[in-house]
Amino acid sequence: MELTERPRRLRSTPVLRKMVRETRIDQSSLIYPMFVKEGKGIKEEIPTMPGQFRYSVDMLPAALEEVAASGVLSVMLFGIPDEKDECGTGAWAQDGIIQKALKEAKRTHPELYYITDVCMCEYTSHGHCGILNGQQVDNDRTLPYLAKIALSHVQAGADMVAPSDMMDGRVAAIREILDQNRYENVPIMSYAAKYASSFYGPFRDAAGSAPAFGDRKAYQMDYHNRKEALKEVLTDCEEGADIIMVKPALSYLDIIRETADQILLPVAAYSVSGEYAMIKAAAQAGYVDEAAMICETAVSIYRAGCGILLSYYAKEIAGFIEEGR
Ligand code: PBG
Ligand code: ZN
Repeated sequence: MELTERPRRLRSTPVLRKMVRETRIDQSSLIYPMFVKEGKGIKEEIPTMPGQFRYSVDMLPAALEEVAASGVLSVMLFGIPDEKDECGTGAWAQDGIIQKALKEAKRTHPELYYITDVCMCEYTSHGHCGILNGQQVDNDRTLPYLAKIALSHVQAGADMVAPSDMMDGRVAAIREILDQNRYENVPIMSYAAKYASSFYGPFRDAAGSAPAFGDRKAYQMDYHNRKEALKEVLTDCEEGADIIMVKPALSYLDIIRETADQILLPVAAYSVSGEYAMIKAAAQAGYVDEAAMICETAVSIYRAGCGILLSYYAKEIAGFIEEGR
């Protein structure tokens, strides 16, 4: 047999397969999302996301200990306030849930890196990501609120802010207020290409942030579109974003690839709650091998071109990296 090409040759042993891997991932590129709520002594499992919890501020340090022990270096914090109003006052309150969580986290675990989600939907009575004008979110009236929220997070200790609202111009508005307050070195990770997605369902249950009426399609992107994502990404680059995020991840691998090919900034991908819930539920039913599926999906997202991954499986992924899987 005179075969000139034998691709199987490089697959013949585990050592060789690892030697020729094209995608290598690193613990330092992982970000673990966490939920913090008001109250004391609370560590409650999120029904739609088994294995994920809501913590009160006093219970947060023990959870951060686990994160640090896993090898993950960064967390993304989401706040769940007790009270909501029309304009999401709790989002920038000095004693707001995120502000208290940040202070405690920085005090007990200063070795971790803290990123905060900047949005209003968890804090507004109507559950939309900004200030309403009738049934619509008023883009320009919302911008100063987002800026104020981002500033208050940074003042409370956030190392990086991540706006997820999808208002036009919010990166510029946040950059401006941070610079005016001498936080010119605090980076912004923009949820730049964020699609209106059914994959956020479990998160909205976790955070109590589902809209009271309608949906988010007038501000988050239509999943039929690819070029529009690139426009969002390039706009946020121009407005001064430091890291560009694509979200969700698994159904948007093409968008991750396109973004990575087109821009000079680091690209992050957010493997969202619905992606976690799908794997978790199938694993609990005994239909799939959870560990194998975590590894394969995570690597596929990196292979698509991102350098940073936000995942509810971050601690597990860090463990698999450690094992050399
Ligand atoms: C807030 C926000 C959401 C997510 C991150 N930030 C929910 C939404 O836009 O409805 C989703 C994260 C996830 O599903 O894991 N706007
Ligand atoms: Zn929101």
